[in-house]
Formats: sequence, structure tokens, C-alpha cells
Amino acid sequence: MHKVLDHLRYGGDYNPDQWPESVWQEDMELMQESGVNLVSLAIFSWARIERRPGEYDFAWLDTIMDMLHAHGVGVDLATATASPPPWLAHQHPDSLPVTRDGTRLWYGSRQQYCPTSPDYRQGAAAITRLLAERYREHPALEMWHINNEYACHVAECYCDRCAAAFRAWLQRRYGDDIATLNETWGTAFWSQRYSEWDEVIPPRSAPTFANPTQQLDWKRFCSDTILELFEQERDILKEVTPDKPVTTNFMGFFKPLDYWKWAAAEDIVSHDMYPDPSDATAHIQASATYDLMRSLGHGAPWMLMEQVTSQVQWRPRNIIKGPGQMRLWSYQAVARGANAVMFFQWRASRSGAEKFHGALVPHGGKETRTWREVVELGQELKKLKEITAAQVKAEVAILFDWESWWALEIECKPSAEVRQLEVAFDYYAPLFAANIAIDFVRPGDALDGYKVVIAPVLYQVHDGLAEQLDAFVANGGRLVMSFFSGIADERDHIYLGGYPAPFRKLLGLRVEEFAPYAEGQVNGVYSDEEDQFGTRTWSDVIALEGAEPIAHFMSDYYANNPAITRNSHGSGTSYYVGTRLDGAGMGWLLERVCREAGVGAPLSAPFGVEVVQRRDDSHSYTFLLNHNLEEVTIDLPRPAHDLISGEDHRSRITLGARGVAIIRM
Ligand code: GAL
Repeated sequence: MHKVLDHLRYGGDYNPDQWPESVWQEDMELMQESGVNLVSLAIFSWARIERRPGEYDFAWLDTIMDMLHAHGVGVDLATATASPPPWLAHQHPDSLPVTRDGTRLWYGSRQQYCPTSPDYRQGAAAITRLLAERYREHPALEMWHINNEYACHVAECYCDRCAAAFRAWLQRRYGDDIATLNETWGTAFWSQRYSEWDEVIPPRSAPTFANPTQQLDWKRFCSDTILELFEQERDILKEVTPDKPVTTNFMGFFKPLDYWKWAAAEDIVSHDMYPDPSDATAHIQASATYDLMRSLGHGAPWMLMEQVTSQVQWRPRNIIKGPGQMRLWSYQAVARGANAVMFFQWRASRSGAEKFHGALVPHGGKETRTWREVVELGQELKKLKEITAAQVKAEVAILFDWESWWALEIECKPSAEVRQLEVAFDYYAPLFAANIAIDFVRPGDALDGYKVVIAPVLYQVHDGLAEQLDAFVANGGRLVMSFFSGIADERDHIYLGGYPAPFRKLLGLRVEEFAPYAEGQVNGVYSDEEDQFGTRTWSDVIALEGAEPIAHFMSDYYANNPAITRNSHGSGTSYYVGTRLDGAGMGWLLERVCREAGVGAPLSAPFGVEVVQRRDDSHSYTFLLNHNLEEVTIDLPRPAHDLISGEDHRSRITLGARGVAIIRM
């Protein structure tokens, strides 16, 4: 574990350059009062530091670094490259990004850079190096915050320079022989054959569907190219301050960037999360992203780098977190492995596009509910140092692959309604409700320690995955695979020989045809346990080749055909789910699989109470999070001590509305 996370960190983005110096001393006092011990500094400060090309002003930052240190606040120092100053694009208009239809995006907002612009890259490298050299010995410096939310606004640029870089990337991947590219992209179709490399371009606006493999490679290229920007800065920082960990803040299931690759390139995973309080499933979706962050770091502590204390300003309607909700949702992240609870931003801005965004210090200052809750949480977190080495241990894994997600959602599939995250969430939500811990795993990574592995629409699979899953099941594991998995290879070419060809033997079946539903169409299944559940989106027409059905379709021309099957394989079992079951159906199925696998919750709790355990060698810490607006009582298997309240409980514990306890048993 990195030293920076050996106690719980609390704080947020600090933008003192938006304020006169007269405010800074008050900032320090308020940080101390609230227990803030880490701030992310200078994220959007490039224009303030480099007022004109090559003219740098660090004096204000020197002062702030010293003040923070004097007040016991550590610094997660940004490289300030998230948004270049207007002068960069004014001098180098071709540093601005270009959209798919050829529109150039201007400055006056943020993140207006093309990822292959040499002017942007040089400017970013220069300021990164200057910051690293200037603050390398500064006692406040604890870690580096590279850029900010890479690709959040500009995930791709279609300019001519990017087109050339795309060709070079393709040549590195496929070699110089254009014939390989033609074969891989399947250009025999629609007269798309390329005769020279110079003809190859990004999938710009075109009369109709662009070549799918070209689109897939473009997504790979864009993720890799933006990653080069990160690596350029990281390499400079590692050269100057090799001992300081680096991070860049992620955005959960963010489609444009393959976070498996990205996480491998950084020291600490960090994450920004803005659940919508008006969405009843928001905390479940947030929890899935927290599990993803932990999984990206292979279980290591991660940082909740941004969230909001009260309400954001960027939705059409910005619903405020109710009393206790910020605290409850913060503990959700800690329960799932975060050792930092941070916010955007420290002090609410007076001007600019984010002036109505919540902050630790709202416009109203200390006389606000937000401030009172901020202080309460900051003081509480100080009591929890002992949990920081404890980790979440999951026995259920969901296979999740960015490349497959990209390939799945390229148009011209049997149904555009099959969306990666929606189907993954179909599986995640009932496990969350049952308080069963879940990891996400990149296909191909080791599966040791998991008892159940789930593959929700794993459309694209690489060679070798079938053998790995085969061995997992043969050795006693339980695999649950959904419809439309194992369909295409990494080139987006179909695996022939009956769907899903790589897994036919393991699943003991063949899918003869896909029967996606019309808009609003539904169907249902009846199970071998005499339950009935609704289905939506899709039915597979399944022919059994050894598997036994555990549910059948209710209607349509494939009525009474198998919908869900199980197949014994070695000492394990593989399940196939040839449709999208409703929530009750998913609950039924996953409860059955987990029961068979001997996987369960740490303790049983009333509906709406989230239970998550972090464990170290000697202790387990069970988080009890009451998402209900009513009080609940939870029976305890053993006497327990609540780290937050300091109370001992013999056999039961009562939590108020949105109440939280962390018990050591
Ligand atoms: C994040 C971003 C912050 C701030 C915040 C507002 O996406 O990193 O700089 O804009 O959103 O919610």
C-alpha cells in the first residue's frame, strides 16, 4: 500500500487561483476544522502558471504549498495540463481537436487539445517537468495528479495528423503489408479494399455504416493515443520524483478508455463519481463503479477523487443529496476499498460554469447543512485508521472487457437494445441486493479464488479464453454466460460452427438463431421450480447438446424451448442464459447459482441495508449501510464493536435513516 493511503484521506480539488489571497488563510483554518488532510491542487492552473508562452509564475503556488504544509494538509499536485491556455491554440490552431464531421472545437471551455498535437505535448511536458523539479523536495507533495479526467469531453480527434498516427498505429499492429489490414478489416465487403496505406483514414462521417473493424481499431487507437499523453507525463514525474505515486482520475465505466490498460500504467487508481440522487438505483450503479476501481487495482486501496457534497450543476435538474446522504454514499466507497473520500471542489466558485456546483465550503460558508455534514464526516474518518489495510475479498467475478464492449455497441447487430452496461447491471444488481461481494475481471486474467464467474454479453472473445473458462469449470467453478457471448474474435470476425462456437462444448448447447424483440415486446419463462419470470430484449433459439434446461420460454414460435440451461462439466457447472430476465428472474437464478457454489453475504440484513466486508489478517470490518429512510435493526451473529460510534453491541444493532456502522466482530 502506498504511504499516502495508509490512513483515510479527506479533501478535494483546491483551486486557490480562483480566489484573492485574502481568502487563503481562511481556507487553511476551515480545512483544519473539517479534518481535510489532502487536496488536489492546480488541476486547471496552466494559464495561471504560464501566463505567456515560456513565462512562468510559480510564486503563488509556492505560497499555497507552504501554507498547506504548515496546516498539515498534504498535496496531490496536478500537472496542470487538463486545459491548455487560450494562447496555445491561438498560436497553434492545429492543436485544437476535430470532430468526426470535421468541425474544429475552440477554446473558451476546457480540454481543447488534439492528442497528437506536438505543441500540446511539448507544452504539457515542459510544465510537468518544471512542476516536478520545483516541488520534488517540498514536504507537502505526496502524490501526482496527472491531467484530469482524460477524454471526458474530447475522446477522439479526426484531424489529418491523427489520421497519420492511426496509420502508424495500424502498421505497428498488423505490419506494413496492406493485405493483412484488408483481410483483418474484411474489406472484400462493399468494395472497401485499400491499395495504399495513404488511403486509410479514421472512420470519419460517411454515407452509411463505416467498416466495423475499422471502427473497433479506431477505438483502440484513441484509447492508446490518449494513454501516451498520460505516459509522457508519468515518465517525467518518475524520472524526477521516482518515489511519488501517480494517478489520473477515472470515470467509472467510461467507454472511450480501456481502463484495464490505463490502470496498469499508474500507481493508484482514483475515481470520480456523481450518482444522481433522483435515481433510485444510483447507489447501486455507484457501487458497481467502486467494485470496478478496486478490481482495476487488483484489490489495492483506491481513491474516491471526486464526488459532490450537495448537488452538481451539469444535469438539467440538479437534485440535492438529502441529510446524511453524502456521508452514507462516502462510506459506500470506503466499504468497497477506497482509502480516500475527496470532492470537487473545496470552495464553491463565484464565477464560471461551475458556480452552482456544490463544494465543501458552499457560497453560504459555515452556516450551512453541507458544512456541518462535511465537518462531521471529516472528524469521523479520523477514527478509522485501522481499516486501511483491510481489503474486500470477492468470490464472484464479472468478466468485463472494454474491447468487447466497443465491438458489441458498433451498429448493425441483431438488436441495438443490447447494451453492455445494462446487461452487466442485470447481473450486478441482484448480487448487490443479496450483499454478495463482486469483483470485475479482465478476460484472460487469473480466476483463482473465484467460485462463480459471470460473462454478460461477452460478445468478443480472444483465442484462449474458452480453454481458460473450460478449466475453471472443470475444476469446480460455476460459469454463468449470457446470450450473445463468444460471437466474434478480436478482428470482429464471427466464430463459425454454430453460436457460440468457442463455448458450445462447455455449455452443452448450440444457438440456432437469435430472436430479438420488437420495441415493447416481452416474453417470459417458466422454471423447473415452477416460477415464472418476464423476459425482454432477446431470445435465443437453443438446441441442447448435453445441457439440461432449467427454464423454458412461454410464448412465440420457440415456446417450450430451453431459455436457461445448466451443464455439468468436470466438477463444475456452466449455466447459459439465452434471454434478458427481469429482476425477479435474475434474483432467482443468481441465488440458485450462489447457493450451489456456497457463496453468501457476510450477515443477513433487512432490505435496503448494504453489507460489505473489508478484512485483513486479523480482523474483519463489516460495513452496515442503511439506504432506507426508516430505522432498521440488524441481528448480529456475535458481539461487535462499532468503530464510528465507539459502542459495543451484543446481539443486535439499530441504524437510523441513512445510518452507518462499521463493526469489528
Ligand atoms: C468532473 C471534473 C471536475 C468538475 C466536476 C464537476 O468531471 O473532473 O473538474 O468539472 O466534474 O462535477
